[in-house]
Amino acid sequence: MSKISAVISGVGGYVPDYVLTNRELETMVETNDEWIVSRTGIRERRILKDPTLGSSFMAEKAARMVLEKTNTNPESIDLILCSTITPDYLCPVTSNILCEKLGAKNAFSYDLMAACSGFLYNLSTGTSFIESGRYKKALLVGVDKMSVIVNYKDRNTCIIFGDGAGAVLLEASENSEYGIKDMIMRTDGSGELLLNIKAGGSKYPSSKHTVENNEHYIYQEGATVFKIAVTKMAEVSTEIMNRNHLTKESVQWLVPHQANKRIIDATADRMGLPLDKVTINIDKFGNTTNGTIPLCLWDFEKKFKKGDNLILAAFGGGFTWGGMYLKWAYNS
Ligand code: UT7
Repeated sequence: MSKISAVISGVGGYVPDYVLTNRELETMVETNDEWIVSRTGIRERRILKDPTLGSSFMAEKAARMVLEKTNTNPESIDLILCSTITPDYLCPVTSNILCEKLGAKNAFSYDLMAACSGFLYNLSTGTSFIESGRYKKALLVGVDKMSVIVNYKDRNTCIIFGDGAGAVLLEASENSEYGIKDMIMRTDGSGELLLNIKAGGSKYPSSKHTVENNEHYIYQEGATVFKIAVTKMAEVSTEIMNRNHLTKESVQWLVPHQANKRIIDATADRMGLPLDKVTINIDKFGNTTNGTIPLCLWDFEKKFKKGDNLILAAFGGGFTWGGMYLKWAYNS
């Protein structure tokens, strides 16, 4: 029996209309456009202003786009996986809500959480389901409304994050030429206190005290996390290249998590890739956590050619990180 491959057959994306510029941030915290651009590469980010809308709103927009583009009936979807650290609720999970919104009546669904590596872990989980032969179509969404967990009085974090969602349709194929080829996923839980949201979980539940002390906002020791991120993203990206006998010539695209332009540059440099082979949109969207990689796939879709070799790479809280090699399956 021939091996079943998991192939990305379409991508969708959504970012809210409101543009939060560096100039506007200058009026909120002690910072300046020059510092933000030179230290992070970010010029602006999108914010979902409406307080009544959660991550499922953006997830639905991205998901509908991919279903329309691929002419897919929602009832034909077997599985919906949503990676997010800002779900609408803890229960029910956002992918359950998405199933209902889309009319995906035959799908089962659940959420995954792995901070900024969430979408890569999501894609690796979806790939295993498809390759098992039991499921034919999986809708995988990465979404975050980071603006609800960002403290706009903290200049260490508020300049970085934005809101957005991306989605891919992953399908079974008997043509083994294209699709997800290889992946390396890693975790090191010693990062617990270096990048976290302290309160609101079972260890330290929400209370008047946690709210008053701003403990529901994202916290990171930026410089320490930066050093580890650079090392791990570069390490995993070169490892996946080498073990698949890929060279800087045979890799067409690096699709990195968008945490900091300097981390992206260092990773591309270690791989020997020029920046015109790297998907970069951190300048306009900032770090959308689970949204970054699928938003890059959506943003650069028209540039990808059938047969292109793509390396996806991410690093995030946990710590979590990983790399993936895939062969792009279509021209758009
Ligand atoms: O997404 C998943 C994982 N996360 C990451 O990968 C993020 C990794 N970290 C980073 O991207 C960077 O560390 C940051 C962008 C968060 C910070 O950049 P940095 O170059 O590491 O700055 P720093 O924290 O070492 O601070 C350098 C200086 C400090 O001033 P002093 O102590 O040298 O006087 C900060 O107080 O810059 C100051 N600073 C700022 N100045 C203007 C920190 N934030 C700002 C700001 N505007 N927004």
